[in-house]
Amino acid sequence: MRYLTAGESHGPAITTIIEGLPSNLPLEPAEINQDLARRQQGYGRGGRMKIEKDQVEILAGLRFGKTLGSPVTLQVKNKDYAQWTDKMDPAGEQPPELDLVTHPRPGHADLAGALKYNFTDLRNVLERASARETVARVAVGAVARSLLKVFDILLYSYVETIGPVAAAPQDPVLVIADYDVIENSPVRCADPETARQMMKAIDEAKAAGDSLGGTFVVVAVGVPVGLGSHVQWDRKLDARLAAALMSVQAIKGVEIGGGFSLAARPGSQVHDEIFYHHSKGYYRHTNHAGGIEGGISNGEAIVCRAAMKPIPTLSRPLQSVNMEDHSPYTAAVERADSCAVPAAAVVGEAVVAWELAKALREKLGGDSLEEMQHNYRTFLNTVAQR
Ligand SMILES: Cc1cc2nc3c(=O)[nH]c(=O)nc-3n(C[C@H](O)[C@H](O)[C@H](O)COP(=O)(O)O)c2cc1C
Repeated sequence: MRYLTAGESHGPAITTIIEGLPSNLPLEPAEINQDLARRQQGYGRGGRMKIEKDQVEILAGLRFGKTLGSPVTLQVKNKDYAQWTDKMDPAGEQPPELDLVTHPRPGHADLAGALKYNFTDLRNVLERASARETVARVAVGAVARSLLKVFDILLYSYVETIGPVAAAPQDPVLVIADYDVIENSPVRCADPETARQMMKAIDEAKAAGDSLGGTFVVVAVGVPVGLGSHVQWDRKLDARLAAALMSVQAIKGVEIGGGFSLAARPGSQVHDEIFYHHSKGYYRHTNHAGGIEGGISNGEAIVCRAAMKPIPTLSRPLQSVNMEDHSPYTAAVERADSCAVPAAAVVGEAVVAWELAKALREKLGGDSLEEMQHNYRTFLNTVAQR
């Protein structure tokens, strides 16, 4: 399976083409829209989220609500484009009075992108580098999630830290037990007191013209043993999940399971001992490995953690340089979120869902959903006899 995304932040639409889905998979625009709405929520978002109420259009690859095995094309129109037609028209002449963006924002692709692609107007870079692109990732993730759900694989996410405020460390599978609380929390935090402190920290940063980052956790339960492979570097599931999460705008660190904390502990406190019971097969009492050993899922919950840097666009902008005459200048201000960690967690779920769905397709093969299901039953029967 593969997908590409296209679209500028203030262009007409964000689009994606997904290839390699099985035929006969039911897909509902409502399910995709639900995840698009979840991406738009979260305490600390800026004005853009009030303008856009993202709605997916399915343009290809489905007939009467089921996939055809052909490429699926999804599109989400940018409502804001109506105000940007003079600045973002894909065709026509550049208006002579167009305001060029010439002050690159630290922490964005503005400077490196303008030098690489030889642009004088930084908008040519920032429109595509913008996290508006995550609309497509979330739509793709919702499709992947629909496929995974058929195989009883479910995904969750929650926020662990925002700026200096951290929730008490807890087993991720226990945290998601109360998922309604997380879904209804403006900061996707299960503990109301920590959530309150997180919102206070966001308010303080915003009042100071500043921004905050944080960390979030994505958990996948019901993942069978055997996704990914130890035999080649680019087939390792942990590597693929890390790359997928790291590809999300502003993500600067990824951990699988215990991640960095494992480095400080002796092996006897890290490796998850193996047990067997005839009713449930092989199992563990701990999951420091985050459900992956040797690049292969081991049947435990998959646990990924990602670190998001603070939003780079600040209402009290940082020092920069005017690229027209190299004079010192404060960076350009685009409308911005002051904290987007809760939204990034939803995007994280989506990219993890995609990688797991892709690995499941590789494991089970088949062209139709029925063929995948048949192959799944056969595989589980084989595993149960070991
Ligand atoms: C959901 C989400 C929302 C974001 N919103 C903004 C924003 O409003 N303003 C901003 O400057 N950066 C925002 N970012 C971060 C930038 O997109 C990101 O830092 C930038 O593209 C540079 O990429 P890099 O940080 O991966 O190097 C957001 C990121 C995510 C995941």
